[in-house]
Amino acid sequence: MVSYKELGLVNTREMFAKAVKGGYAIPAFNFNNMEQLQAIIMAAAETKSPVILQVSKGARNYANQTLLRYMAEGAVAYAKELGWEKPEIVLHLDHGDSFELCKSCVDMGFSSVMIDASSLPYEENIALTKKVVDYAHQYDVTVEAELGVLAGVEDEVAAEESHYTKPEEVIDFATRSGCDSLAISIGTSHGAYKFTPEQCTVDPATGRLVPPPLAFDVLHEIEQKLPGFPIVLHGSSSVPQDEVDTINQFGGALKAAVGIPEEQLREASKSAVCKINIDSDSRLAMTAAIRKVFAEKPAEFDPRKYLGPARDNMKKLYIHKIVNVLGSDGKAC
Ligand code: G3H
Ligand code: 13P
Ligand code: ZN
Repeated sequence: MVSYKELGLVNTREMFAKAVKGGYAIPAFNFNNMEQLQAIIMAAAETKSPVILQVSKGARNYANQTLLRYMAEGAVAYAKELGWEKPEIVLHLDHGDSFELCKSCVDMGFSSVMIDASSLPYEENIALTKKVVDYAHQYDVTVEAELGVLAGVEDEVAAEESHYTKPEEVIDFATRSGCDSLAISIGTSHGAYKFTPEQCTVDPATGRLVPPPLAFDVLHEIEQKLPGFPIVLHGSSSVPQDEVDTINQFGGALKAAVGIPEEQLREASKSAVCKINIDSDSRLAMTAAIRKVFAEKPAEFDPRKYLGPARDNMKKLYIHKIVNVLGSDGKAC
């Protein structure tokens, strides 16, 4: 049993309370490799932003849960080396799907876990979430739960609405499960194809696809039911069109990729939404930079020569999110 406190990590409790009060959101960035982690830590240290490092099931399969945990421990030391006196770094399990997995993360030093039982019937979601909460809280590890199902791109808008979190359920769910934060469904979804072209309108000035707005009415109703309770938004990449264009310009084939407009995320950050999950945008920034080097310098074969620019591009993206979208800069000095 390793406590995250020994590793210099923090849980989300105080971080979220401050974010809800202060009208900003904490960035939750997924990482799978060293360059992503370096870029996240450099961006957080430079902007003095609290940050959540997320490890998904896919990341565990790709890079190994133990190795990722040690990398996060190293990230705390690295942040200090960069001149960040008191780094506020959370190591979080993203989309944990069983009690056993959440327990193994708690036991090896994660400071926060998500139990995603949102696909189970309501009572089973509560029961499994409560089991994880009862275990995690013994070690002061915070727990994120999910209520409502994030839309898939193949759904019709009408079908998506039926998956939105039901505001009338949130008090009962939060009280009985004991969760510390709640991921809700208000129209975001995972990946770079969040909406079909049919669900969008076309901006006549740019010719770009404009997605339907998030269900802010549902968010506000939830906020009224649970005043001050930390709310989480998954699937919050904006799919920057310049990165998509670069990828396509240099041999990629991303068609009609659409994300969540940043103005809407900025608005959400000012509410009880205090954690915003971003993964796909970092993948796009990395891929765009690598494709550019491959196309422009076909003789290059030193990985540092293309992973370095990829890291720079991700760092730029993370700083942009922190400063211009979430407003978390300067909140952890
Ligand atoms: O929630 C999904 C995250 O983007 C992680 O994705 O399972 O492919 O690592 P992944
Ligand atoms: P994106 O695919 O929109 O980046 O969402 C990531 C996420 O929600 C991770 O849990
Ligand atoms: Zn997610």
